[in-house]
Amino acid sequence: MKCVLAITALAAYAAAASSKSACSTDVTISSQSDLSSLSQCSQFNGDIVIDGSDDSDDISTIATISVDGLAKITGSLIIQNLYSLQTVSFAKLNSTGSLKVLNNTKLFKLDTPMLTSVNDLQIINDPSLQEFNYANMTSVGNFQIINTYINALNPFSASKAGNIEILSNTQLSTLDFSSVEKMTGYINIANNGRNTNVTFSQLSTVGGNASFADASALDIGKLDTISDDFSLYTNKFQNISISSLTKAQKSVTLSGNNFESISFPKLTSIGTSLNIVNNTNLQSISDTTFPELTSIPGSMVLEGSFDNITFPSLKSVDGLVSLSGKGELSCDDASQALSSAASNIDCSLEVVDDSSDGDEEDGGSSGGSHNSHNSKTSAASSRDTIFAAVVGGALALAAAYV
Ligand SMILES: *[C@@H]1O[C@H](CO)[C@@H](O)[C@H](O)[C@H]1NC(C)=O
Ligand SMILES: *[C@@H]1O[C@H](CO)[C@@H](O)[C@H](O)[C@H]1NC(C)=O
Ligand SMILES: *[C@@H]1O[C@H](CO)[C@@H](O)[C@H](O)[C@H]1NC(C)=O
Ligand SMILES: *[C@@H]1O[C@H](CO)[C@@H](O)[C@H](O)[C@H]1NC(C)=O
Ligand SMILES: *[C@@H]1O[C@H](CO)[C@@H](O)[C@H](O)[C@H]1NC(C)=O
Ligand SMILES: *[C@@H]1O[C@H](CO)[C@@H](O)[C@H](O)[C@H]1NC(C)=O
Ligand SMILES: *[C@@H]1O[C@H](CO)[C@@H](O)[C@H](O)[C@H]1NC(C)=O
Ligand SMILES: *[C@@H]1O[C@H](CO)[C@@H](O)[C@H](O)[C@H]1NC(C)=O
Repeated sequence: MKCVLAITALAAYAAAASSKSACSTDVTISSQSDLSSLSQCSQFNGDIVIDGSDDSDDISTIATISVDGLAKITGSLIIQNLYSLQTVSFAKLNSTGSLKVLNNTKLFKLDTPMLTSVNDLQIINDPSLQEFNYANMTSVGNFQIINTYINALNPFSASKAGNIEILSNTQLSTLDFSSVEKMTGYINIANNGRNTNVTFSQLSTVGGNASFADASALDIGKLDTISDDFSLYTNKFQNISISSLTKAQKSVTLSGNNFESISFPKLTSIGTSLNIVNNTNLQSISDTTFPELTSIPGSMVLEGSFDNITFPSLKSVDGLVSLSGKGELSCDDASQALSSAASNIDCSLEVVDDSSDGDEEDGGSSGGSHNSHNSKTSAASSRDTIFAAVVGGALALAAAYV
């Protein structure tokens, strides 16, 4: 009996080492010896799953995964829920269909020094991960790095990509995707290092959403077409020109940013809505902000401390125009000017007269009473308005003291 078992085991080992089937059948790794047999394959045609969620499994306590021989995986390599895992090394791996490294709380090093090609990369919820080595990413589909401690990315040289999503990597501050010219999917960048510099300097088209948040510097100077929503949230830079964008096929949203000025010199159309809210230093939508924009088929929401709002080429806004906040601009002026482009205007702008201190004698020290005083009276009594509307099809609106 013993003898038979030994022979069976030997035969199994030999099969694993040499037969094609051992390197071409999907495997779920449950022990160190399963890992050793993987090293016998130079190419693996299938999926390799290393999952620690079943803690009765030996693999759930593994600290190191090291597979030396494997150069190519046609399917997926999935490494997940291994709460003792500290290092992963695939020394020769140069190409894989997917690489998913998910939920490994102690993992600090992921070493794939030959890797250049991956169709679906997901490095997600590995909060201790400091080092992710790859060779030079020349071919990539989905590229997601979310919630890690990585502080630098290796060279990224792909000219095309599917999606790029880089979120919540608090140590990562240089995102250089200047090789990328075309994306078939979406971009989502948010909540990375303190002074994040985001460079997509050669990118011309994005097939999905393009959302950039929390950046200190952003270069999207060649971006021409976005097929879905375009958003800038809570960015820290002061000025930006989205200099090549001609078509935003869905919405444009600018929210919570620090900028003092922004311009879209070539943008002629927005597919759905325009939303400009809570950009506290943006006081003016001037004639250089949207000089060519002619139509907004959806709604327009402008909320902020505006002194001037000017859309030199705007001819129609089909949806609701909603104006709110407090600045030097009054509802009367705003509504009257926009009325040639929009028929449905909901305005609650409060006029703040900051050229005079006379308001203080009302005794109201709270912002509330101060503002309500202003909103009732100042449009009529404390200022006049220069108002120029519809000149040769141009819609312009300006408020100024006389
Ligand atoms: C990837 O590894 C395989 C197997 O060693 C090799 O044939 C191939 O040339 C390598 N490709 C690259 C791009 O290094
Ligand atoms: C990651 O862990 C969380 C809880 O710790 C769990 O809900 C989630 O399903 C895990 N993700 C994967 C891909 O296993
Ligand atoms: C990466 O690969 C690209 C294209 O193969 C090459 O042009 C570039 O010099 C490489 N960069 C590095 C840093 O190896
Ligand atoms: C941002 O990074 C790009 C390329 O990585 C570099 O050319 C540019 O000077 C950087 N900008 C800032 C403001 O650091
Ligand atoms: C695009 O972004 C919007 C928010 O602007 C979101 O609701 C939507 O789900 C995103 N679409 C895709 C395909 O991710
Ligand atoms: C940003 O633009 C404003 C107004 O155009 C200008 O006063 C300011 O100096 C600019 N700031 C920077 C950092 O370029
Ligand atoms: C407005 O933006 C600031 C950041 O610039 C943020 O702290 C605040 O929560 C935002 N307020 C709203 C109502 O979104
Ligand atoms: C608002 O527009 C008027 C008239 O064009 C101009 O005099 C004034 O400087 C502008 N104010 C701001 C804050 O841009």
